[in-house]
Amino acid sequence: MVIVICGGEGQLAREFAAYFKNYHSAVKVTSLSHGDLDITQEKSVLEVFKQLRPHVVINTVAYHKVDECERNVARSFNVNAFGGYLVAKMSRDIGARSMYFSTNYVFDGAKATPYEETDIPNPLNIYGHSKALAERLIHVCDPQAWIVRTNGLFGRYCGPKTKGGSGNFVDFVLGNAKENADLEMVSDQNITPTFTADLVKACVQLILENEKGGIFHITNSGETTWFEIAEKIYALVGSHGRVKPITTEERNAPAMRPKNAVLANNRLKALGFSTLPDWKVALRKHLELKGVLP
Ligand SMILES: NC(=O)c1ccc[n+]([C@@H]2O[C@H](COP(=O)([O-])OP(=O)(O)OC[C@H]3O[C@@H](n4cnc5c(N)ncnc54)[C@H](OP(=O)(O)O)[C@@H]3O)[C@@H](O)[C@H]2O)c1
Repeated sequence: MVIVICGGEGQLAREFAAYFKNYHSAVKVTSLSHGDLDITQEKSVLEVFKQLRPHVVINTVAYHKVDECERNVARSFNVNAFGGYLVAKMSRDIGARSMYFSTNYVFDGAKATPYEETDIPNPLNIYGHSKALAERLIHVCDPQAWIVRTNGLFGRYCGPKTKGGSGNFVDFVLGNAKENADLEMVSDQNITPTFTADLVKACVQLILENEKGGIFHITNSGETTWFEIAEKIYALVGSHGRVKPITTEERNAPAMRPKNAVLANNRLKALGFSTLPDWKVALRKHLELKGVLP
């Protein structure tokens, strides 16, 4: 099997590449960085796909600095929606299957219980709108494309390139915890942070077992808040800093966020796949692998 990964220097892309190398070395993987392939350039995408002839294309590309997206609407839609569509369409045209990553921010958070794959999106911010549009465009051009909605990614490949330089939330908190700095964190948004290693394992199972396409919710289990995650990290590393809960209104960020953004992983369960570990187990594992637990 030949697999092409787009957005190859991102945290999720690098986790995919490592996972295939470690557990499925017979799969031929080509990881393309932004410099290798800009997914908004139609001709380049087609040329590269025709040359590499993948069976599956994993598109991890995104412009996902949520607050920045509010003032960079054209770039958000160009990269997330148009680029996402192009990759799915070109994949279909060469007979490959494709996988796209979306977000819990396609929902408005008004629901009291976890969102299911069949719930209707109603985004509150530009990033969510660009992802919701991508989902529709991709589904129309290829109903067999996998569209994976996930939430709050963290993993060992977070680096200077992740989120265009802002890194992941867990590593941001960890940096502050190590410096014993005080932090203010939002405590009224329900989420489930997701460990890239756990996410990749489930996605690779979907690919290798050639499961049906469409929307999948894939996150770690359980639910929490940004405040609770930060508190947990501070406690685990023995930080002397203090984490103070604040409300979404007090944070007053440029982009609105849903108050409930928890995703029920119903389709994975229906397929009989193992549920992903609880977020607290995943967080501890991540911190252990980073060697930061006392
Ligand atoms: N991170 C999260 O918390 C989160 C939550 C929910 C869903 N997701 C989704 O999960 C996926 C993976 O996220 P991630 O955290 O791995 O992101 P990431 O680390 O920021 O990686 C994204 C990659 O996309 C590249 N890129 C940007 N524009 C491009 C373009 N036009 N053509 C080709 N490459 C381009 C970036 O390269 P440059 O930096 O060089 O531009 C970067 O390497 C994304 O679809 C994201 O929306 C992420």
